[in-house]
Amino acid sequence: MSNSIQSVLVETRVFPPPEGFVKQANISGQAAYQALLDESDRDPNGFWGRLAKENLHWTKPFTQVLDESNAPFYKWFGDGELNVSANCLEANIERGLGDKVAIIFEADGGEVTKVTYHELYERVCQMANGLKSLGYKTGDRAIIYLPMSIEAVAAMQACARLGIIHSVVFGGFSSKALHERIIDVGASLVITADEQVRGGKQIPLKPAVDEAFGMGGCDIVRHCLVYKRTGGSVAWDDKRDMWLHDLVKDQPKTCEAVPVNAEHPLFILYTSGSTGKPKGVQHSSGGYLLWAKLTMQWTFDAKPDDVFWCTADVGWVTGHTYITYGPLANGMTQIVFEGVPTYPNAGRFWEMIQRHHVSIFYTAPTAIRSLIKASEANAAVHPKSFDLSSLRLLGSVGEPINPEAWMWYHINVGQERCPIVDTWWQTETGGHMITPLPGVTPLKPGSCTTRLPGITAAIVDETGGDVEAGQGGFLVIKRPWPSMIRTIWGDPERFKTSYFPEELRGYYLAGDGAQCDADNCFWIMGRIDDVLNVSGHRLGTMEVESALVAHELVAEAAVVGRPDATTGEAVVAFVVLKRATPDGDEAVAIAKQLRDWISKEIGPIAKPKEIRFGDNLPKTRSGKIMRRLLRVVAKGEEVTQDVSTLENPAILDQLTKPV
Ligand code: WTA
Repeated sequence: MSNSIQSVLVETRVFPPPEGFVKQANISGQAAYQALLDESDRDPNGFWGRLAKENLHWTKPFTQVLDESNAPFYKWFGDGELNVSANCLEANIERGLGDKVAIIFEADGGEVTKVTYHELYERVCQMANGLKSLGYKTGDRAIIYLPMSIEAVAAMQACARLGIIHSVVFGGFSSKALHERIIDVGASLVITADEQVRGGKQIPLKPAVDEAFGMGGCDIVRHCLVYKRTGGSVAWDDKRDMWLHDLVKDQPKTCEAVPVNAEHPLFILYTSGSTGKPKGVQHSSGGYLLWAKLTMQWTFDAKPDDVFWCTADVGWVTGHTYITYGPLANGMTQIVFEGVPTYPNAGRFWEMIQRHHVSIFYTAPTAIRSLIKASEANAAVHPKSFDLSSLRLLGSVGEPINPEAWMWYHINVGQERCPIVDTWWQTETGGHMITPLPGVTPLKPGSCTTRLPGITAAIVDETGGDVEAGQGGFLVIKRPWPSMIRTIWGDPERFKTSYFPEELRGYYLAGDGAQCDADNCFWIMGRIDDVLNVSGHRLGTMEVESALVAHELVAEAAVVGRPDATTGEAVVAFVVLKRATPDGDEAVAIAKQLRDWISKEIGPIAKPKEIRFGDNLPKTRSGKIMRRLLRVVAKGEEVTQDVSTLENPAILDQLTKPV
């Protein structure tokens, strides 16, 4: 666990919730929070059952809240039926919100399109009818590989409407990553676009899909639907490819939502683990939606007049829960943004908040850190140059936020008026787990503070025993909760061993190290496994290593993380080539070749920031790579650890030299 993360523990500033905020908050004051905590601790099933009845529309009510008979394969509301999309669309139209704006879409170039709940309902229904006309039905799997767009949200909702299980692949992933996911999930449908537009550039998407198909094994894919975003030229297979607009244009504008069992998989989303292959995290319909809806009300204090903006991409879990499902389930107005925070300049976020009167803004520490830099260099893009008076609440997600970035966000964006909710959660948890409640929790920069009601987060040692305040340990969730991961798609054994190791008494193991302070506030200290967090994106070191050794020049590779002022962590790769170790210009050229290769194999986010070459890697006599030494070397620090077990100490000198 890195020193930079440890240092936040000396942070002592505390910011009580503003009085005006407390007064109007959905959960208002410590007593209200405590009452919910008590209710959930006293009678968890009663608590969750009550919330599920009050918050969701069930076509068939459930009679059992939690089925633990096959733990850890828990079932929630398991004999109930509902439809997620009907809960997001019809439910709002029925309560008179048909003409309310659901989505304000802002394109990369600045064009704005708005759709009301009624219009979104019709678009989703037309798309669902189109899918139905092609024979797709409940239980089929669809890969969605789309840019940020109304179409992406509508495609996910259309799948949910029919019980088709979606698996969204981030548009920045390579054709190779896409291919792996198509195969693993067994997709019979792919929905993509001709191109995406980001930062003024057109980036092809359909060609990546064609490449993935070309890699073989994709015969069960019957159709590839293409959303025409730019009109850029694309290759076409008449048997398989079809324009989305052609498919939907004559479809009826209503489509009955198909009731599914509460446990029916709503989606599968791939995320990195500590071994090579990404894991397909499977989420449910009922439990997942319940938490997506409730955390909007609790953490984000959602109100009818809010304009909500989560800047994540729908390719990540944050975009699933806090774009496609949570805001719509609550009938909110939200921003969907196609572009990047730095185009046409680094004032884009603040300008958009001003233009659309955003009241709740949710982004990642990486974005904040890069915008701090940019606004120090250019006052015109500083948040102070914009009218941000519409903001009332700020959020952070994806990685620990360092206290300096927190303070800058608080002072310059929140104008010392807006609480900041630093939300700790994971792809596997479905929604927020540990976070301040803006009308309750005193804030501490760098801490995600306290557990949400119903969430039994704790810090334990390697036998599952509670550790004292101030002691580091494993972050676990002791009891199941409705929006938890149900299994790893196609690999239930890996699900059990990764998340419910026997020695931890049946607790859910998050994979993060953390500690609690005397106020029960959690401080996340980083991953306990070989997973890196680069710009808030999870990346397995093994994934990058396997991609490197797949290159013809590479004999061996080890990948570690290094603290980075902007991206949180950066990827550093140590590489042994099959030929003589290069130096000078040749080393630079090969490093570039390998970085491009990684970009192609996984995606640009996985590109090593630095590559170093050596004749060998530091290994123990038994042949194990000593990663802790490589971490020290990557940081540019002197190796002070014991190297007596090292087979080849001289190798360290070679590896300390940057290319
Ligand atoms: C990290 C993103 C500190 C953590 C929602 C976790 C955080 C991983 C925070 C999950 C936070 C996420 N403070 N660390 N507020 N939020 N993390 O699956 O290491 O992409 O395990 O889900 O990000 O990343 P994932």
